[in-house]
Amino acid sequence: QTFGVRCQIGHTDGSRGAASFRLMPSSKSAKDFFRPLAVGAPTPPTEIPARPSRAIHFFDPSNEKMAAKIPQMVGSVDVLLGNLEDAVKADNKEAAREGLVTIASETDGLGGPDAKTQLWTRVNSLDSPWALDDLTRLVPAIGHKLDVIMVPKVQGAEDIHYVDRLLAQLEAKAGLEKPILVHAILETARGVANVEEICGASPRMQGLSLGPADLAADRRMKTTRVGGGHPGYLVRQDPVHEQPDAHRAIFQQDLWHYTIARMVDACATHGIYPYYGPFGDIADVVACEDQFRNAFLLGCVGTWSLHPKQIAIANKVFSPSVEDIKHARRVVAAMGDGTGAVMLDGKMEDDASLKQCLVMVELAEQLAAIDPELKKQYDAIEVD
Ligand code: GLV
Ligand code: MG
Repeated sequence: QTFGVRCQIGHTDGSRGAASFRLMPSSKSAKDFFRPLAVGAPTPPTEIPARPSRAIHFFDPSNEKMAAKIPQMVGSVDVLLGNLEDAVKADNKEAAREGLVTIASETDGLGGPDAKTQLWTRVNSLDSPWALDDLTRLVPAIGHKLDVIMVPKVQGAEDIHYVDRLLAQLEAKAGLEKPILVHAILETARGVANVEEICGASPRMQGLSLGPADLAADRRMKTTRVGGGHPGYLVRQDPVHEQPDAHRAIFQQDLWHYTIARMVDACATHGIYPYYGPFGDIADVVACEDQFRNAFLLGCVGTWSLHPKQIAIANKVFSPSVEDIKHARRVVAAMGDGTGAVMLDGKMEDDASLKQCLVMVELAEQLAAIDPELKKQYDAIEVD
């Protein structure tokens, strides 16, 4: 049902016309969400598969040195993403697009439903002069290999609706059998305000990434970094009574906690996946790991990698530890039919803690299926 306000408009000829302003998006029948948006386009997915995507490694397809390394990275990283947007110079936009077509066409094992390494791209933003050409070039040429298209600077459901229809038209024309999924970057204040409607805007929605650099600029935050913390964002211990000069500990706070938490809730509500975004201080591997781990603990399934050394950090952080899996399996074994409560090492475990453990165990199984080293570690766990 459409909620509309009928608004009388006076015309110069004295007649009165009416315009209808929509206050809420018109709602479709539930059944229509899973009908293709173009005749001949593949059926939209009813569920988004949980494919491992711990590290989404960004590369610039216009950079020949970087592009040459892609084939040997296949199999060792969950996702390779050909970046066409920010960090690619305006003069190189077409070369990046064409470079991606070449890499996707010539690299075995990259992209498509059975590939070990998924192929994603980040297209230019919808208000740029390149976005339309990105989509019309890539979908017919390499649509069968492109698993996910990341759309930057998404402001609201209308941006996803635009991409959704266009992709359906292009898929129909190209005769694709599988719909390409869409991932939105959360990097504007309006995007954050509309995060739930963005996640629910199309059955193609695969997930969301935090875009801390653009988001900081759009919010007019007073930072100058790409992701991570800031030493000025802190709380300080209270003064010690009658010792005004005594040392007071400070605790740095996480600038991104609020946004990630909102993102995680919106994604979980809609059955899609949340990701951390870029961590720009490549040299600071310690803070990078901490930031990734915060995101993992809050519910994110992966992160971006801007340098090969961040792949290893992401794979480590976004795979449950052997200790966690050992504990989770003990709880599963002790809980029998999954109801009631048991004591393990002095701690109460019940239906709800079992559910948390099952999240971990399920994730470990998915990862073990694609990561033989991890499988070995998980298989070696002995539950006493
Ligand atoms: C990523 O695109 C960001 O703006 O942080
Ligand atoms: Mg950005």
